[in-house]
Amino acid sequence: MTKAKVLVTGGTGYIGAHTVVELESAGYEAVIVDNFSNSSRDVLEGIAKITGKDPLFIEADCADYNSFAKVFELYPDICAAIHFAAYKAVGESVEKPLDYYRNNLDSLLNLIDFMGKKEHASIVFSSSCTVYGQPEKKHLPVSEEAPLQPATSPYGNTKQICEEILRDCTISYNGKLNVIALRYFNPIGAHPSALIGELPRGVPQNLLPFITQTAAGLRERLSVFGNDYNTPDGSCIRDYIYVCDLAKAHVSALDRMMEEKPEIAGSIEYFNLGTGVGISVLQMLELFKKATGIAVPYRIVDRRPGDVEQVWADPSRANSVLGWRADTPIEEVLASAWRWEKKIRGI
Ligand code: UD1
Repeated sequence: MTKAKVLVTGGTGYIGAHTVVELESAGYEAVIVDNFSNSSRDVLEGIAKITGKDPLFIEADCADYNSFAKVFELYPDICAAIHFAAYKAVGESVEKPLDYYRNNLDSLLNLIDFMGKKEHASIVFSSSCTVYGQPEKKHLPVSEEAPLQPATSPYGNTKQICEEILRDCTISYNGKLNVIALRYFNPIGAHPSALIGELPRGVPQNLLPFITQTAAGLRERLSVFGNDYNTPDGSCIRDYIYVCDLAKAHVSALDRMMEEKPEIAGSIEYFNLGTGVGISVLQMLELFKKATGIAVPYRIVDRRPGDVEQVWADPSRANSVLGWRADTPIEEVLASAWRWEKKIRGI
């Protein structure tokens, strides 16, 4: 039986690569499109080693209509798409808003254009909990019913605008387009094989890569951005979700759309992907020590502008509707991140 071909834009990126692995193991055939703007060709090798087969891959820029068109000429039988390809650095987006709007919006518009030419199209969109901003206390843990807040960065705004574009298109495509927007909380960790993982360029902006690089001796110490927040230990709280659990949610979302249930025809659905547990920055350092035996040096510094104080997910809709749960123990997740850091540093 021929396998259903699923386009994965940004498929050599951090979440994309882990999702390709899960798609292949679930019996889908991934067609990866990437321009390596924030990833490396070696990732394809890592995927091949894990899955035992070279993934289908086309080097193309999704924001460039003609370059992206090649993909649909080569693989006219693509039946669904998972759209990861986007810029994602919050700080950089404040400095270069046009780059962010151009890249993140054009790639989505092109994707909808191509997929919309099909008899029926399913798109899984890579969204973020950033759409909720800082939810009011009464909305924590945050469910999909919580009000969205004005975005605090161009990056965050692109996620909100993309969700709106997709919603409008599900209406105008008259039942031909199905969308699931997955709102990720904080993805961390690496594949258990340590063959793929997160590859931040330059100084990591995100917490866990900074912790593992400090543990590996690349950085002197972690700066904890603030310990005077209104949280039990004063540091910020997030919902850290294992990237392999997150990847599996994409397969569940795809399965749901492939069933072509009449009740979701032409709809857009939103799901929060988190564990349901909030962890503070200082707790993370303790957990990392428990998982690896390494006490990462740190100092408390000023708050980071734009940081939300605390946010964690109510993932019950994803649990019940998608039949998915993020259940990998945090120690295991942190150990996987450390294994990956050691592997890439040759420690
Ligand atoms: C941020 C964005 C999120 C985006 C994600 C992409 C916000 C509010 N959230 O997530 O929308 O999808 O980046 O990468 O902008 N921390 C330190 N020291 C460090 C690094 C981080 O103390 O060196 C703290 C932060 O203050 C925060 C926590 O660790 O409390 C997590 O930070 P980070 O990994 O950057 O993720 P978010 O800010 O939650």
